Amino acid sequence: MGDKAPEGLHYVGELEDLISAKRTVVTVEGRDILIIHHQGEFYAIDTYCYHAGSSLQNGDIEELDRKLCIICPKHKFRIGLREGEGLYRGRDRSWHSKGVKQRVHKLHLHQGAVYLHLSTAAWTESDYYQGDKGRAARERLEREGGAEEAGAEEGRSD
Ligand code: FES
Repeated sequence: MGDKAPEGLHYVGELEDLISAKRTVVTVEGRDILIIHHQGEFYAIDTYCYHAGSSLQNGDIEELDRKLCIICPKHKFRIGLREGEGLYRGRDRSWHSKGVKQRVHKLHLHQGAVYLHLSTAAWTESDYYQGDKGRAARERLEREGGAEEAGAEEGRSD
């Protein structure tokens, strides 16, 4: 394990371990965060999708208009990995941003270990699924087998 965490940062794992795992969920201050290593870059994003709380851990990654996105397995919403913006396909068939919907966090490498700086940005929709009410909603979604709900698919613009 790395040395003591630098000021204000949280140790999340050894660099080599996170690279070989490719995707790792860590809990930092009660928040579940998905760390992804993809094409030589690290990303840290809230684990539960802002739409209805499904886990993003097994979502496919694709590039849309030169933005790397994760596709939520549940209803296929696209989320930018770098900024956390929701993306939707417009009538013109190109991709547009709904603004930041998913909280993303910064990672720092230090002496062979990876540290996370927890984002303190203003309220972000994915925050809901990290709290008690959101947890209950996530569990309900799992129980119901993820009944497709309103707004399914990436066409939703809110
Ligand atoms: S829960 Fe992710 S798209 Fe619906």
